[in-house]
Amino acid sequence: MAALSPHVLVVFVAVLLLATATTTRCHRHGRHHRHAAKGDAVAAAAATLGVTDINAICRTTPHPDSCLASTAVHLDAAAEKLVASSISVQLLPPNILSVALASLRGALSAVSSLSPVLSSALSAPPPSSPPGASPLRRGAAQDCLELHAATLASLSRSASLLASPGEGLPSVRAHLAAALTNKATCLDGLAGASGPEMDGLLASLDDAYAHVTNSLSLVAGRGDSDGGGSAASFAAAVAKIIHHNRRLLEDIGDYSDNGGGDDDDDNNNDKTVVITVAKDGTGNYRTVGEAVAAAPNNSATRTVIRVKAGTYEENVEVPPYKTNIALVGDGRDATVITGSRSAADGWTTFRSATFDAFLTHAGVSGEGFMARDVTFRNTAGAAKGQAVALRVNADMAAAYRCGVDGHQDALYAHSFRQFYRECAVSGTVDLVFGNAAAVLQACALVAKNPVAGQSNVLTAQARGDPNEDTGFSVHNCTVAASPELLASAVSTRTFLGRPWRPYARAVVMDSYLGPLVDRAGWVDWPDAEAGRADTVYFGEYGNGGPGAATDGRVGWAGFHEMGYDEAAQFSVDSLISGDEWLAATSFPYDDDV
Ligand SMILES: *[C@@H]1O[C@H](CO)[C@@H](O)[C@H](O)[C@H]1NC(C)=O
Ligand SMILES: *[C@@H]1O[C@H](CO)[C@@H](O)[C@H](O)[C@H]1NC(C)=O
Repeated sequence: MAALSPHVLVVFVAVLLLATATTTRCHRHGRHHRHAAKGDAVAAAAATLGVTDINAICRTTPHPDSCLASTAVHLDAAAEKLVASSISVQLLPPNILSVALASLRGALSAVSSLSPVLSSALSAPPPSSPPGASPLRRGAAQDCLELHAATLASLSRSASLLASPGEGLPSVRAHLAAALTNKATCLDGLAGASGPEMDGLLASLDDAYAHVTNSLSLVAGRGDSDGGGSAASFAAAVAKIIHHNRRLLEDIGDYSDNGGGDDDDDNNNDKTVVITVAKDGTGNYRTVGEAVAAAPNNSATRTVIRVKAGTYEENVEVPPYKTNIALVGDGRDATVITGSRSAADGWTTFRSATFDAFLTHAGVSGEGFMARDVTFRNTAGAAKGQAVALRVNADMAAAYRCGVDGHQDALYAHSFRQFYRECAVSGTVDLVFGNAAAVLQACALVAKNPVAGQSNVLTAQARGDPNEDTGFSVHNCTVAASPELLASAVSTRTFLGRPWRPYARAVVMDSYLGPLVDRAGWVDWPDAEAGRADTVYFGEYGNGGPGAATDGRVGWAGFHEMGYDEAAQFSVDSLISGDEWLAATSFPYDDDV
């Protein structure tokens, strides 16, 4: 009971605070609704939303025609949803909320209707490939189908989050950014594929995801410019109050746990399933894959998979319904999971991963994946191109004292919010890449020997839409060369990052940069569109060491020598809402810069 009551209290206090905050806002705006009438007020606003309002709101989106089409079909349903959920608090003004919900419904119906198209285009190989067409890469079809299912889950989750008080806009934006990343990853895998069916598929994907882009733009940073009474600052204020009180309540919880009986704790521990993996047969299973398969489906409580010391040669996938897994090894030098898939052997980058956690299921909470004291390795080698050791597309995923070891594309921080603490990440080109919002804190980034003539690049972030809250934050880390790279006669250049997509964001802060870091710091993406150097955001703050001097850095508009305020936007709390979920992992973290 001691373990449960703080949560109940949190919910209760949060509801109270939300109610109070709303009352305050209404008063500030000079309105005097009775509490009971708020749901009606929201519905009324949606019902009376005029054509002019809809036009004005849709004009702010990247694809106004798609927005208007969605509202024409779904606005009434969106209004009904608001009434049915009888919410007394919204983080968006009612008219924008209605359009955003209608847009999400449009996205869901457009993306759902793609399912049969995708299946027929991808399930069966075309009877005769057109001349010059290359076969699909291994896993490409499966990637797209799984990513498609993940997108559908993220869209419905976004809709329900938006229509209920609670986690609020950062979670909605995390899901929508993940959906857009899913599309980009499907296209990455299909690259090179052609034929009439494929062209039709690509066009339908663009049309369907226009609704997702619109939905994201409707919930992104809205109202930031119109002063203190804006929806965004209101949302931020409410979120702060809730965080603050959560912490207080957690402190109370800790206190009573320390002083109270152990019986309650045992009660709680009963729910945790522990599965042991040992190569020598002394555990429940001999392989990690078997343990994952045996873990309960859609679990709301933790399953601990304890992997005893040993080298496990296998490719392991944690599928969406294996929620709440914590992988615990005997130390990153002792427990190693290793594979060798690579692009050169025909795999898509996505599918090359030795270990992946693909948890985009619509869970209630705590769907995150955790790992500690394990190394994930890909042994394909530098000459085999992209070869992922660890891929994570799971929200609120955290790794502690882990190793990620490969060459090109070692750590695929694909999507959602992720945290890596005291991990050792080693490899060569695009060492950490993807479109997650990820913080690497107190980690060692180790550059190894690339193929002759290649440069090392520590980050390749892939933010593709300016409304996405994604980016990489390397905080309090060390950047060093591996012994082999140090000993090598060739002088390999090592850069902090390059922009995989136009709005890439990556920062390096409070870190030790060894002499290997190139004076230019950052480097172009090959064959990028003109002007990418202006649309990216690359930053440095508070770094030391021989590689930290910024006087020779690239002169791009998108490069920033940051001050504290800028740097603080990439802290654990700002970038990944860490204060909301990291305490539950028991991993140490620092929420400030
Ligand atoms: C979990 O779900 C998968 C996929 O639906 C199914 O194959 C498996 O049998 C389920 N396992 C359990 C323990 O229910
Ligand atoms: C910085 O990193 C070191 C390990 O390299 C760790 O001991 C220390 O706690 C970290 N400090 C913060 C503020 O994260």
